[in-house]
Amino acid sequence: MITGASDGIGAAAARELAGPDVDLILVGRSADKLAKVTADTGAVGLTADFARLDDVRALAKEIADRTTSIDVLLNNAGGTFEPTPPTVDDHEPNFQINHLAPFLLTNLLHDRLAAAESGALVVNTSSIGNLIGRVDPTDLDFRRRRATQFRAYGTSKLENILFTRGIAKRWRDDGIVSAAVHPGAVASSFGRDSFVIGLLYRTPLKRLGPITPEQGAAALIDLVHRGADPDINGVYFSRHRARGPESRQAHDPELIDQLWTVSAELVGLD
Ligand SMILES: NC(=O)c1ccc[n+]([C@@H]2O[C@H](COP(=O)([O-])OP(=O)(O)OC[C@H]3O[C@@H](n4cnc5c(N)ncnc54)[C@H](OP(=O)(O)O)[C@@H]3O)[C@@H](O)[C@H]2O)c1
Repeated sequence: MITGASDGIGAAAARELAGPDVDLILVGRSADKLAKVTADTGAVGLTADFARLDDVRALAKEIADRTTSIDVLLNNAGGTFEPTPPTVDDHEPNFQINHLAPFLLTNLLHDRLAAAESGALVVNTSSIGNLIGRVDPTDLDFRRRRATQFRAYGTSKLENILFTRGIAKRWRDDGIVSAAVHPGAVASSFGRDSFVIGLLYRTPLKRLGPITPEQGAAALIDLVHRGADPDINGVYFSRHRARGPESRQAHDPELIDQLWTVSAELVGLD
C-alpha cells in the first residue's frame, strides 16, 4: 500500500512495484490524478485528504474491509504547506498532513499489518529537512512558537523519524518493522507552492541538483525488497545509505514516547 501515489515519488514507486503477483492499494488526494496511475498499474485506487482526519478514518475502514493483511505500507504522502490557516481539525497543516494523518492511518491498520504472514514493513518518507526541525511535544501545532513553512515542514519530517522509532519499539513483537528514508532532492511536484523550491526544482536550475522521481523512488523500493528485516528496524536512511544525518532529537527515547502519546490523544486513540 502506497500513500501519495498520485504523483512524484509515490507514483514512480507504484509503477515500479506493480506486477501480476502484487496486490497494490494506491492512495491519493486527487481522484483524477490517481486514476492515471491506477490505469497504468492495475492497482486499487482510494482517495483521502489528509487535511481531514475523518477522511483518514474512512480510508482505514475501507482498506480494512478490503484486506486481511498488509505486507508493506509506504507512508509517503506529504509536502510543504503554509502553516496557516489550520486544518478543519484545527491542526497546523504540516503537522497534520505529514505526521498526524499517517500516524492515525498506521495505527488504524495495525491489526492488518500484524496479520502479515512474513512480518510487515512500514516505511515513512522523511527528509533531510528533519535537521531544521524542532519538536516540542507541548506545542506540536506551533501555537506558542512562530512557524515558518520550512521550520514546520522540517519538524514534521523529524516527527516521521520519531514515529518510525516508536513503531520499532512498540510493535516489534507483532512482527512489524519500520524504517524512515530521505529520498533525495527530487524534481517532483514537491514544494509546488514554494517560490524557492519551484526555482530550484522546476526551472533550468534543476540541472544543478534534483534527481528524477524514479531515482527518488529507488530508495523506497530498496527497503521494500528488504521487507520486515529486523536490521532496518528504526533506521533512518539517506537514500540508499543507512544512518543519514539526523537531528539530535531523533534519538531521544523520551521524545519518541511523548510524541506517540500526545499524537494518540489528539486523534482519540486509546
Ligand atoms: N521531492 C523532494 O525533494 C523530497 C525530499 C525529501 C522528502 N520528500 C518527501 O517525499 C514525499 C513525496 O513527495 P513528492 O516529492 O513525491 O511530492 P509530490 O510530487 O508533490 O507528491 C506528493 C503526494 O502526496 C499527496 N498529498 C499531498 N497533500 C496531501 C493531502 N493533504 N492528503 C493526501 N495526500 C496528499 C499528493 O497528492 P495530490 O497529487 O493529490 O496532491 C501526491 O500524491 C513527501 O512526504 C515529501 O515530504 C520529498
